[in-house]
Amino acid sequence: MAKPLFTTHTGMVDILPGEVEKWQQLELLIRDTARRFHFREIRTPIMEQTELIARGVGQLTDIVSKEMFAFDRGDDHYVLRPEGTAPVSRAYIEHNLKQRGGTQQLFYIGPMFRAERPQKGRQRQFHQFGAEIIGSPNPAADVDVIAFMMDVYRQVGIRNFTLKINSVGDPESRQRYKEVLQDYLHPNLSKLSKVSQQRFETNPMRILDSKEEQDRPIVEDAPVITDYLNEECLEHFDLVKRYLAGLGITYEVDPRLVRGLDYYTKTAFELISPDLGGQDALGAGGRYDLLIEELGGPSTPAVGFAAGIERLFIACDALGIELGSEPAVDVYLVTIGEKARNWALSHLHEFRQKGLSCTMDYAGRSIKAQMKDANRENARFSIIIGDNELETGEFTLRDMEKSEERNLSLDQIHKLIAPVM
Ligand code: HAM
Repeated sequence: MAKPLFTTHTGMVDILPGEVEKWQQLELLIRDTARRFHFREIRTPIMEQTELIARGVGQLTDIVSKEMFAFDRGDDHYVLRPEGTAPVSRAYIEHNLKQRGGTQQLFYIGPMFRAERPQKGRQRQFHQFGAEIIGSPNPAADVDVIAFMMDVYRQVGIRNFTLKINSVGDPESRQRYKEVLQDYLHPNLSKLSKVSQQRFETNPMRILDSKEEQDRPIVEDAPVITDYLNEECLEHFDLVKRYLAGLGITYEVDPRLVRGLDYYTKTAFELISPDLGGQDALGAGGRYDLLIEELGGPSTPAVGFAAGIERLFIACDALGIELGSEPAVDVYLVTIGEKARNWALSHLHEFRQKGLSCTMDYAGRSIKAQMKDANRENARFSIIIGDNELETGEFTLRDMEKSEERNLSLDQIHKLIAPVM
């Protein structure tokens, strides 16, 4: 085949019929989980103000400093959203959702954009499902969003994963820890990778999750934040662990887990799968008690998660889990000649109105080609229509799976097929 003139951008992928069905099935499952957990859907625009993302996610993060799809139009600065938490927080403030009372339990499903180097499990347009509980400082809320996330994987049949949790503390604990960490790293500074050296002043905690080989031995012996948490953060973390255990959710404490977004306080977590390769996080999240105030809203504690849909499907493939089967067509009308084609065109809808899927050949192909097409479309029944059939009012109904044929009137066919479907 000749190379097409136009293709998708690197890291952006078409989702074709045959695949869309599994997306639809997963989306149904997520919506049903949301209903059971009592989260309501929120849909925010795909573009946000660049400043919102810069402030929300953090100026020094990779996402903001390197991976934004941003452009200007007149005085407006647009960015394709790289994640959902800052946009949902913006909407919460803008529409004063606090006024509705209680905590807001919100979920979303949609595309996100990051100009990363594409690789397996990493795209430039990818999709997340996520949930946020806004307005509750209670550790039970942290556990509720984790339980929501895990429930989706449980239903899909993915159980091969590790839930890693940590507490990244509050500003007070973090300041104390940052100093201790810098004191520890300082004598080894020249041995650290370039990226980590750059992070030493600005964000030393990110050095802890460095993927650079040369950083590893230094990071391994570094002091851990969990030893520097103040009482409030410690108590919160203990309760999260206790509630998780109470729900029978197993976890691993990883004191080196630091997230790539700046808004986290206290709880941070990641769901890691061995079936994903290098990009091994199925989903991740944490608490962000200061974000809403940082974005100009009232002081409001919040916690949430987001998970990559493409990565969920990669795990499904690795585990042999099949979501969404290709839809079969219920009735395929096989026509011989112009008259039969016109008749079929006007009778297609009778089947469709009864809730059956029905299609026919629009290309004037031979009977043989039409039967082949009916097979390819997984038709349950085909009906053969020619001049003779139209004259006698008797049609051949073929059960494609059983290869059985019967001659019946149209009425009889309707009566016979409807209860079968
Ligand atoms: P995140 O860790 O940046 O967190 O992304 C969450 C998940 O989205 C990842 O674990 C991964 O499954 C998926 N993901 C991220 N980038 C890509 C990519 N380039 N290609 C494919 N999948 C990707 C957040 O986005 C936070 N907003 C999570 C959160 C919600 N925290 C609190 N509330």
